Amino acid sequence: MSANATRAVGVDIGGTGIKGAVVDLSTGELLTDRIKVPTPRGAEPDDVLGAVREVLQRLEVSDAADVPLGVAFPAIVKNGRTLSAANVSDSWIDFEAETFFENGLGRQIHFANDADVAGVAEMRYGAAQGRDGLVILTTLGTGIGSAMIYNGVLIPNSELGHVHRAKHGKDAEAWAAYSAMERDELSWPEWAERLQWYYSHIEFLFSPDLFIVGGGVSKHSDKFLPLLDLKTDIVPAVHRNNAGIIGAAALALAGERRGILDDTTEDLADRTAH
Ligand code: BGC
Repeated sequence: MSANATRAVGVDIGGTGIKGAVVDLSTGELLTDRIKVPTPRGAEPDDVLGAVREVLQRLEVSDAADVPLGVAFPAIVKNGRTLSAANVSDSWIDFEAETFFENGLGRQIHFANDADVAGVAEMRYGAAQGRDGLVILTTLGTGIGSAMIYNGVLIPNSELGHVHRAKHGKDAEAWAAYSAMERDELSWPEWAERLQWYYSHIEFLFSPDLFIVGGGVSKHSDKFLPLLDLKTDIVPAVHRNNAGIIGAAALALAGERRGILDDTTEDLADRTAH
């Protein structure tokens, strides 16, 4: 796989949709339309694989094994293995997911957590570019994903959507994700109250220097971010809901099989831990 590639395919598997595009790796821009198919009901591995195949076919890159392919997934990903399953089938828990996709697609892929790759995209091409200190990106969607980046170095698999609300015994994402707003039919101010609790709590725990908010709802950030009262700057992701696609593609460029931590190519190596 070429570390000098100028484009790569990014596929972002989410709780509700599987999205993909070809990405220009020098700018982070999409070179094709974004293709989106619904995440199959139950999100069992075989069905998800079928949906990823469909995305690649529609992008006309099914046979382009020379174009790097990055796949992002909404779970803890350690050495290519998925270790959790919050909004997908439990079959993914302790599952050799990277190998499963590589065998099923008949090609090498690069596989990582969806929020982590969104963080990589924003670090490389977006709101976290050139920002020192601690940047926390959260994605507000079906769940809450998180990426923690300290002085340009990603600390993978932070899973900050699963902090608990004291006395409630439920994960934060069940209360404050965008899906909770839809489920409970909340107004923007009502949802913002829940977000206020969430971001204040994360702010207290980590004292970040910048919050970035991604996920599809970030395109409506003017409806809820101004309602939040935090000490930390909070801004929408520059790449909104495409950050996962772009970051997955950027990771693929790194020509590395084991995930973000072992990047060896110069582009990411100087920004990323070993
Ligand atoms: C998962 C995370 C994921 C996030 C966003 C959470 O439920 O545990 O791994 O990043 O959803 O998809």
